[in-house]
Amino acid sequence: MTKQYIMAIDQGTTSTRVILYDQSGDTMGMVKKELPQIFQEPGWVEHDANQIWIDTEGLMQKVLTKYDISANEINSIGITNQRETTVLWDQKTGEPVAPAVVWQSKQSNSIADLLKGQNLEQKIYDKTGLWIDSYFSATKIMWLLKKHPELQKLMDENRLRFGTIDTWLLWKLTKGHVHATDYTNASRTMLFNIHTLQWDSELLKIYGINKNLLPEVKNSIDNFGSTVLKGVTINIGALAGDQQAALFGHKAFVPGAIKSTYGTGAFIVMNTGDQPKNSKHGLLTTIAYGLNGKVTYALEGSIFVAGSAVQWLEEGMEILDNSAISAEYAYQSSQSVPYQDIYLVPAFTGLGAPYWDQKIRGAAFGLTRATRKHDLVRATIESLAYQTKDVLDVMEIDTEMARTHLSIDGGAAANEYLHEFMANLLQIKITRPRKLEMTARGIAYMAGLQSGFWASLDQLPDNPETLTIDYDESYQPRMHKRYDNWKKSVKSAQMFASRN
Ligand code: G3P
Repeated sequence: MTKQYIMAIDQGTTSTRVILYDQSGDTMGMVKKELPQIFQEPGWVEHDANQIWIDTEGLMQKVLTKYDISANEINSIGITNQRETTVLWDQKTGEPVAPAVVWQSKQSNSIADLLKGQNLEQKIYDKTGLWIDSYFSATKIMWLLKKHPELQKLMDENRLRFGTIDTWLLWKLTKGHVHATDYTNASRTMLFNIHTLQWDSELLKIYGINKNLLPEVKNSIDNFGSTVLKGVTINIGALAGDQQAALFGHKAFVPGAIKSTYGTGAFIVMNTGDQPKNSKHGLLTTIAYGLNGKVTYALEGSIFVAGSAVQWLEEGMEILDNSAISAEYAYQSSQSVPYQDIYLVPAFTGLGAPYWDQKIRGAAFGLTRATRKHDLVRATIESLAYQTKDVLDVMEIDTEMARTHLSIDGGAAANEYLHEFMANLLQIKITRPRKLEMTARGIAYMAGLQSGFWASLDQLPDNPETLTIDYDESYQPRMHKRYDNWKKSVKSAQMFASRN
């Protein structure tokens, strides 16, 4: 029998990747394409959904050609995706009716404010586990319907379809035969009741969204139909939002296990087992995965700006030639005498958990005549660690579970300075796999479980060799003071925003 592979499609905010895994969990091949970001207005971020489809289809072909693999060798396909990003399309023509509204995009802020003004916050949280924000798909659909009044007619004629990126790609891959999503993606729309596991009719009525727009919701590991690749029919066995897929990739199957992924944003997710855990501190209650009709829940702290802050230093400020050099700059800055005690609040698109402040914008504090670009780089990297602590501190209170260990992944996790600083700030051991593609690995595990490529959770191959950095207790008092300064910096930036 020929060797078999799982094909993982990872459609992220800034790029699309297709990765092949063999049965021992080794990466056989990877192809990637950057995705252009569309900025029509300040604060808006949009994507061309057709471009996403064309790129994905192209990469699925390319990975086979590049590594000389036949489509017959693909055992199953899994799709993982940037979550919440909203696509509306006409099911008759197969064409998107507007640019996709990206999760970070702020054009539906006023709709979120309107819902808050109706005192719906607690009701919506109790049903969906989400705190009202323009981050989630519901406000984006409402905004699109308002912006394009002609869509109402399409909706009434049962021609309009909604999907997050998983659903859009699945619909395209199955040539319009399957309109479905999974529990993890549904749980990020603010339309889905995470307790009854149904689209919530009461909320749909409040939002003015017809149910016929919405996909069928299935387990993350399920039969999602098939696609034809180079003449071969291949099963699609899993769908999951990228952050939940990364949790699965870390094999965080035990309640209490936590991972943090540093991509465009940073997303800290804790497995909370078969019962949803409520948060009193702005964390989201969400679904980690659905397997065999059983749902595992999670608590999540969503940080909007992480890796994109380093990208800003490179492309916006032009003070970094490439992001790889950022760790070196940060180490240089940390050793500078006198020490530059500066803080950067990277609230470029507001702040997510635990603040949920749509209006706050970025700020830097403590600048002196002696501040150099190295210091700004260090402060930016440290802001990722401070934001992680913001989330982990409230996660501890909400779950009454002390943190002992954190697994990290994503591009910025490769930054040695961040890894070390964070261990000392959090005073815990931090582990990162040598291969940082946990999202794709997680969806490959899921698709492979569905097809029987791997028989059960304990048959999944081990994560690649990991690197653990232990903390140094002597840092505690110093870090205490710095974290205090970070909190003051956030407060000041919030005050500035509320005055403007
Ligand atoms: O919730 C948004 C998140 O899923 C985006 O992840 O990796 O594309 O930045 P990423």
